[in-house]
Amino acid sequence: MSATTADGALRALTDRLGGRIAYGGDYNPEQWPRETWREDARLMQEAGVNLVTVGVFSWAWVEPAPGEWDFSGLDEVLDLLHAHGIAVDLATATASPPPWFATRHPEAMPVTAEGVRLSHGSRQGFCPSSPVYAEAAARLVERIAERYRDHPAVVLWHVHNEWGNHNAHCFCDTSAEAFRDWLRERYGTLDGLNHAWGTAFWSQRYGAWEEVLPPRATPAIGNPTQQLDHWRFSSDALLACHRREVEVLRRLSPDTPLTTNLMGTLEKKVDGFAFARETDFVSVDHYLTAADPEGHIGLSFDADLARGMGGGAPWLLMEHSTSAVNWQPRNIAKTPGQMRRNSLAHLARGADGIMYFQWRQSRAGAEKWHSAMLPHGGTDTKTWRETAALGAELQALAEVRGTRVRADVALLFDWEAWWALELDARPSVDVRYLDLVRAWYAALWSSGTACDIVHPGADLSGYRLVLVPSQYLVADAHAEALERYVAGGGHAAVGFFSGLVDVHDHVRPGGYPGAYREMLGLRTDEFHPLRAGESVRLDDGSAATVWTEAVELRGAEQVLAFAKGEEGGPVPGGPAVTRHAHGDGTAWYVATRPDRDGLARILRRICGEAGVAPVAEVPEGVEAVRRTGPGAGYLFLINHTGADARVPARGIDVVRGTPVDGTAVVPAGDVLVVREDPAAG
Ligand code: GAL
Repeated sequence: MSATTADGALRALTDRLGGRIAYGGDYNPEQWPRETWREDARLMQEAGVNLVTVGVFSWAWVEPAPGEWDFSGLDEVLDLLHAHGIAVDLATATASPPPWFATRHPEAMPVTAEGVRLSHGSRQGFCPSSPVYAEAAARLVERIAERYRDHPAVVLWHVHNEWGNHNAHCFCDTSAEAFRDWLRERYGTLDGLNHAWGTAFWSQRYGAWEEVLPPRATPAIGNPTQQLDHWRFSSDALLACHRREVEVLRRLSPDTPLTTNLMGTLEKKVDGFAFARETDFVSVDHYLTAADPEGHIGLSFDADLARGMGGGAPWLLMEHSTSAVNWQPRNIAKTPGQMRRNSLAHLARGADGIMYFQWRQSRAGAEKWHSAMLPHGGTDTKTWRETAALGAELQALAEVRGTRVRADVALLFDWEAWWALELDARPSVDVRYLDLVRAWYAALWSSGTACDIVHPGADLSGYRLVLVPSQYLVADAHAEALERYVAGGGHAAVGFFSGLVDVHDHVRPGGYPGAYREMLGLRTDEFHPLRAGESVRLDDGSAATVWTEAVELRGAEQVLAFAKGEEGGPVPGGPAVTRHAHGDGTAWYVATRPDRDGLARILRRICGEAGVAPVAEVPEGVEAVRRTGPGAGYLFLINHTGADARVPARGIDVVRGTPVDGTAVVPAGDVLVVREDPAAG
């Protein structure tokens, strides 16, 4: 998928929805009697729903016994939806093999690292490398595609559902065989594998391919590169499943676009960038972490990542929740207005469709305590009223469709770096990938600065500033690309414990931080991670946690130091933040984890030097995002605070049609979308 193709495919889809923003959710009619379907279709119309995802868990419904097909229910539902003007994102239904599948093919069920074979009775019960699963799934996709490719309701194919959400890592014998094939492909010879895995260590040398296994439970720390390769292999094995479905759909239904709902940072095991390339446009699911008072910043991160996975093109929010979920330790309901803020924040960051899990709240099964658009209480509920109101509001916002968010800052995100960083036996368990990238992002978010979240292989030339909060593992080519970007006049900021290992998780020799030493103009001799809960002071008074290190300047200048004396921690007076002129550009290093305010100050200075300006001057807790298109800019102002906010803006309030004359007043908890005067922005 190229960004231009993605623009086109999603545009064509929303054109088919009458030029509207897509609005709807997962619809699971098999859970309900026929009478309810009719009520559903009527209420969907009432709520402004124009697209629903059908069939995600319908395998047992359409193939109740092996090779026995019954599409009568699905036929009826699709006809009914079409008659009500509701389009369908039709799922391939491969996400939940029925009990007959597991009973017939117990060998196709996934096995854990400890050797436990999992049982049916849940969902996603299959080993990604299983040939019998591949066969059964391909047959199912073929049947569905053949039957419904010309159905007028079907505007989109929904491949599988959340690849790898539950079954990404399998350790069975079939997986072991597939892992060996993957390794043969990657390394060619056993010598190559022995070198990459560093098997001279602890007498792990492999003399025959049959000896090579997935990283099953071991007495002591397992081989790190074996583990890393297993993460890679597992993501690729799922990608192979994805490709098989795509092949069938392209062959039988070439004119209907396809996507698969990715999970962004909610799924560590699946490399989202790799899957995104093999869809017609990106779609993602996002669920707020209810316990996190800054969950809305996490939401922004994932929305920016969704955009980054699609090369900047608009994308589809395939699932989020109207209120509480059911799988967090404490499932906190959303406060009045919070769902709208969440949904419109996704829209602000480039979504052209807002969908939920799920349309009607289940009465039975594992997700009956998960919120839905139509709750147990029916239409006389807060959630229903908010759902219907948002449906109407999105109609009024249809004109933002197709516009794009433009950012001067790129933040590098990489699943491989995440996997490698969090393997066993590292300097500190407190060095966690998402914690670091989110901390940098949050500091930038609070200043109202737009940011694209992109893969290290992305074209960086259009950005004024590249942030690299954490990149423990970096491929040579990616390290060189960043170096060239800086030498050519770009600005980059790199976080601690980055650039250290190559793609085999082998340490780059000559001192830390490995690949970035020259560019950063410094060298670190030894790391000094902090104790749990320990904090040190920097010389600007801010606090820092998790990490310190002994940085020796070799051309870089010190911008901030660890405080002198005891409060400076293990390296008192040593450099904590540095700046280095490299070629025509500048490279910064942050050798610790400063608190929010400290990091925000550092990033403000870096942004200032790089010529990066915020989208708008906003009070703390107010989010400002701009989508622009030919001839129009839309400023989204989202007030996450309990106080009214005033933000400089000029234009028209798109929903209310009223003028905004220099100052937008955004009431507490409210959202305003301003079509800006052409001169603004
Ligand atoms: C997603 C999944 C949905 C539903 C939802 C609940 O991971 O795709 O089917 O389970 O979570 O939050």
